[in-house]
Amino acid sequence: MTAPIPTPRGLPIVGNGLQVPVEGTHRFFADLAAQHPGGLFKLNLAGRHVVFVYDPDLVAEVCDESRFYKPIDPPLAHVRDFAGDGLFTAREGEEVWGQAHRILLPAFSQRSMKAYFPQMLEIAENLMAAWAGRAEVDVTDDMTRLALDTITLAGFGQRFRSFEQPELHPFLQAMGSALTEAMNRTRQLPMVTGLKKKADALYKSDISVMQETVDEVIRVRRASGEKLNDLLGLMLEASDPVTGGRLSDENIRNQVLTFLIAGHETTSGTLSFALHHLMRNPHVLAQAYAEVDRILPGDTVPTYELIMKLDVIPRILDETLRLHSPITAIGLAAREATTLGGRYAIEANQKIAVVLKPLHTNPAAWTDPETFDIDRWLPEQKASHHPHAYKPFGNGERACIGRQFALTEARLALAMILQRFALSDPQGHELTIKQTLTIKPEDFRLRLRLRHEHE
Ligand code: HEM
Repeated sequence: MTAPIPTPRGLPIVGNGLQVPVEGTHRFFADLAAQHPGGLFKLNLAGRHVVFVYDPDLVAEVCDESRFYKPIDPPLAHVRDFAGDGLFTAREGEEVWGQAHRILLPAFSQRSMKAYFPQMLEIAENLMAAWAGRAEVDVTDDMTRLALDTITLAGFGQRFRSFEQPELHPFLQAMGSALTEAMNRTRQLPMVTGLKKKADALYKSDISVMQETVDEVIRVRRASGEKLNDLLGLMLEASDPVTGGRLSDENIRNQVLTFLIAGHETTSGTLSFALHHLMRNPHVLAQAYAEVDRILPGDTVPTYELIMKLDVIPRILDETLRLHSPITAIGLAAREATTLGGRYAIEANQKIAVVLKPLHTNPAAWTDPETFDIDRWLPEQKASHHPHAYKPFGNGERACIGRQFALTEARLALAMILQRFALSDPQGHELTIKQTLTIKPEDFRLRLRLRHEHE
């Protein structure tokens, strides 16, 4: 016997489309999930029917790659306007995805992280220098500078020097604006998009700014004649071990753009949310300071080996990603008609969204789900987690290739911030979230002072 998938009442034609707010989409879906404790619901978003899933057992089913695949639908279909057939927005079955994935995989191994460590440290030191003279900082902006400069230096050998500039880099401004437009286009009917000529002109010019930035990065490398083993070096030199094929210039541009986008928005959001949670949980902050003082006492310069010894800081990041995954949903689609949970009929190509906050706080998988508790990531507790209740890095072969990169960078940055600074939040920052393709805390400022006065 099949059962209908719960569907909130909507309007004729537009269905539930107009109910989805422009701001705070992630909260809207989380509220709907709370109203539908069965672990799934279906919405009609102006003709696009999407099943939202957050019960861990149902998520286990949709994460079975023999039954479900990653479709490139809005918003990713719009991000494809500028990231093209790069890894993140490549379509199922597009041969270039496999080629690029195989060529780039060695660049993301744990061993490669050790090779990138000096560059990660250089940029983290830039952040420390920028903060040393200040009493108050804009956390999210500076985490964005840190993550962008880190991926451009470690991945492409370029110094963006974002901390030396009061404004965010033009690439970042163009990217923010293009991502906002991509999200607007997701919400509006294509006819409406076609009428908005000014927005379209700005979108095209933002895409040009991004592409020109990337073309310059590639040009500088080619002109230098250097043969480096970083992401760009691999893309320019290596061939696919399976097909022997090389990446085209256009695909390399798309991959670089993809890494600049995927490689910094998410890491900066994670670090900003982590600092927010530390301000809200002084006992965890105290544990983190104690760990840093033990592993990196005084002015100790972090090494890769020392950072790998950290235990509290990685658990802070794990728990931050549970409560605030910068990517809020993973899109999937059914390969063939099937049933979920033995009773919900799913048509072939039915679109599915695994919504991460409702999954990561589902009481079926988590005790005290809203509590920031880093002890759930102690090995014995972690071993008892539901295997499909935590997906901040996505699923299967389309999962995040940059996971180790992000976690190494974030551990280092957080450890150095705590090693150098006493942080406080006298205004008691009320968390508001800005959502583009990812979520980040908005207007998040912290006060700080140096812990070791001689610095
Ligand atoms: C894919 C999360 C950092 C590069 C993904 C996906 C998620 C994710 C959820 C899958 C998206 C989907 O299914 O549509 C994160 C988080 C990060 C992070 C939470 C930081 C904490 C990074 C970094 C890089 C990166 C630092 C690059 C250096 C990518 C790429 C993909 C991807 C290229 C597409 C993989 C493919 O489909 O082959 N990421 N990411 N990410 N991420 Fe990350």
